[in-house]
Amino acid sequence: MGSIVAFVNMKGGVGKTTTTINLAACLAKDYRKRVLIVDLDSQINATLSLISPVQFAKLKKEQKTLRNLVKQSVSESAQPRWAATEIIQTNLCGINGLDILPGDIELYEDFVLADIIYERSQGKRENFLACWQDMENNLLRNILRPLAPMYDFVLLDFSPGDHLMTRSGILTSDYYVIPAKPEPLSVVGIGILEGRIKQFKEHQRSNIELLGITFTSLGRTTNMAVQVQERLERDFGVDSFFKTAIPINVAIARAVDHYRPVILTEPRSKGARAYKRLANEFLYRWQQQEKPS
Ligand SMILES: Nc1ncnc2c1ncn2[C@@H]1O[C@H](COP(=O)(O)OP(=O)(O)OP(=O)(O)O)[C@@H](O)[C@H]1O
Ligand SMILES: [Mg+2]
Repeated sequence: MGSIVAFVNMKGGVGKTTTTINLAACLAKDYRKRVLIVDLDSQINATLSLISPVQFAKLKKEQKTLRNLVKQSVSESAQPRWAATEIIQTNLCGINGLDILPGDIELYEDFVLADIIYERSQGKRENFLACWQDMENNLLRNILRPLAPMYDFVLLDFSPGDHLMTRSGILTSDYYVIPAKPEPLSVVGIGILEGRIKQFKEHQRSNIELLGITFTSLGRTTNMAVQVQERLERDFGVDSFFKTAIPINVAIARAVDHYRPVILTEPRSKGARAYKRLANEFLYRWQQQEKPS
């Protein structure tokens, strides 16, 4: 059974997508792992980091995106147009085992899901919370759990903020990684996320475990960065941090223009080397935590 890993931070622009796709590429290329990236963000940044807009437009037209699977998951009467295995794009960028479930700019938003939940609760306020929680528990579980046995890792890329889709992804995941920038507001984003996860655990809705916090876009060491790091280490413990931090490196940002991970476009760059080290550490930390099944 593959592990489902959430790459999550309530704060936006902290390197969630960049870390998900580059780590996935390293795990598949350097360690021959079978990796599925799931793009849960309607910005479709993960999808467009590995698939050209022209190719995506074709998939969208054929309804070969995550939206089709979400539709099947939330509506019992929806006729499946495609099986998940027909939607998944395989061996991306010529890397064996690097697959993606493409996202969609029209992914189900919270108000659409709330409408479906309202119908299920038959308009009764007392049923609404139970129906909402049922949707959170099962929306992505129905889609991802059948796929997990085909992979070593299923990596989830989320949008920023606290949405139903994010909560459903966290509730389906075995582990999570927090990409963070060494800035004061990072502390806030991580705090909100940790509060949410604590709540899930207290209500026995999740056994998710932290694999680690990784600093992304690490620039010159400033007093502010050191203070943020010290504050986070006090709150979460030094062991919660990956030793590998990802430096600011233009090669990482440039790779997106080629729809390829940085280990292919500029393999000798500082960014590519950092992501290779992060993959090594990710596997080590995962092996340490993996529970006997
Ligand atoms: N190490 C890096 N060096 C240079 N640029 C980077 C680096 N990491 C990420 N970027 C760039 O920073 C921007 C934000 O990164 P990314 O999209 O991964 O963040 P995100 O957390 O997924 O954002 P969102 O919350 O909008 O989904 C992107 O333009 C990306 O190319
Ligand atoms: Mg993103």
